[in-house]
Amino acid sequence: MVFTNENTIAKYKGREEEFHQEFEKALERVKLGEEYPLIIGEEEIKTSRTFEVRSPIDTSILIGRFQIADENTIDKAFKAAKEAFKSWRLTSWKERVEIAKRAAELIRRRKFELAATITLENGKNRYEAIAEVDETIDYFEYYAYILQINRGFAHEMDSRMYKNEHSYSVMKPYGSWAVIAPFNFPLAITTTMALGAVITGNTAVIKPSSDTPLSAYNLVKIMLEAGFPPGVVNYVTGSGKDIVDFMLARSDGMAFTGSKDVGHSLAKRFIERDPRPIVMELGGKNPVIVTDKADLNKAVEGVYRGAFGFGGQKCSATSRVYVFESIHDKFIEKLVNKVKETKIGDPRKRDVFLGPVINRGAVEKYKRYIDEAVKGVGNVVIGGKVVEENKGYYVEPTVVTGLPYDHWLWRTELFVPILLVGKVKTLEEALMRANDVEYGLTAGIFSEDPKEVEYFFNNIEAGVVYANRTVGATTGAMPGVQPFGGWKHSGWTGKNAGGPYYLLSFLREQAQTYYD
Ligand code: ALA
Repeated sequence: MVFTNENTIAKYKGREEEFHQEFEKALERVKLGEEYPLIIGEEEIKTSRTFEVRSPIDTSILIGRFQIADENTIDKAFKAAKEAFKSWRLTSWKERVEIAKRAAELIRRRKFELAATITLENGKNRYEAIAEVDETIDYFEYYAYILQINRGFAHEMDSRMYKNEHSYSVMKPYGSWAVIAPFNFPLAITTTMALGAVITGNTAVIKPSSDTPLSAYNLVKIMLEAGFPPGVVNYVTGSGKDIVDFMLARSDGMAFTGSKDVGHSLAKRFIERDPRPIVMELGGKNPVIVTDKADLNKAVEGVYRGAFGFGGQKCSATSRVYVFESIHDKFIEKLVNKVKETKIGDPRKRDVFLGPVINRGAVEKYKRYIDEAVKGVGNVVIGGKVVEENKGYYVEPTVVTGLPYDHWLWRTELFVPILLVGKVKTLEEALMRANDVEYGLTAGIFSEDPKEVEYFFNNIEAGVVYANRTVGATTGAMPGVQPFGGWKHSGWTGKNAGGPYYLLSFLREQAQTYYD
């Protein structure tokens, strides 16, 4: 059995007009402005209070109204999840695999509409939105595949001591997980965590980002339609500040993707109460090294896409570049020319590369970081301004050079389209600087010298590393191809999403022995 990735862009090669029309029809079909309930067990629940979600593309677009859950509704959600766990934990892995495959098929059928929803909800351009739905299908199929090839992770053990003894290692689920998801991959990252939990026999209560709750609603509806029983996946909405502690107080495991500071603070509180499992992926400050043996065109293409794809709002985004002194000015000249070509604007348009950032808060952060870079004597060689357009949240892709290496911007995840570029003399210096942060998520090198690449792979401290990746120097990991997760403060379990070991984070081992 071989796992094959979904790749819509490749499938439409030579039929680009058809691709665009499919996407544009889907944009029309997305229902906007509806009210969405919580999904708890068999019930769809409306609370007495709702919040509005507006599109970052244009805030006059109302995505929908979503419920504000409170302690009572969270309690109800975990009661439903715990009740469902009683029988779900006993289902066979084969049954769970079949349901996951059905979900993949349903998502495949609704691919364009789910992608159009992502574009409307978080402003991702159509190529990135479709790639996210492809990634979601891959998660369903890849985790089904992993469970299948490992036969549910059960092993017969050695039983040589006594003739009549039989021993097994069996992996068992923990219970009901709190799944707390981010805005930047509202379908794919929600899927990896929620599916990781439920395909291994756990149940889940999912709380999406309040910026992007519609994609997670679609996901839960599809999972239920595919055959995950009611209560196995539950959906709650509301501000994290108000409801996450209620969730963590009741859950048997915590899966979180988001910022390091929030993740660490949640994890501390979570573990203090009880030793319980945590799956976390926590951002990065992802470096790229460009040596004097690099093909500069490849380096510029890769760094541009890595830094500015989806406005730098990926945990994998390229955010620091260390360029050899001798080629620094040439690299900057080429990069600036590339950035100048960027089409910024409404991502519903065909040719737009860079849509909005997610919200007003992100624009304010962007302005503050630019001010700080200038105060810190960095040169803003291109970008640096907010773009007033369509009442959405648009900012320019920005390149900063010459910022002293002791400035805090070199060590802080920004999550907006700002790239820092600095000079280095040697590969050793570049690696020392690349590793000199708390994070260790993704990293890249551009060099045509295999020895340099090998030295980089041997010494870089990151969970996902690339050499000469033009499609996005540090970004775009695919399930089953590049297992995605962080070292150091970027991760927790050391078992990457979309990799062969990820599901083990949601399981605990039981040794079983019996005698004839
Ligand atoms: N899988 C996403 C990427 O690698 C987060 O960019």
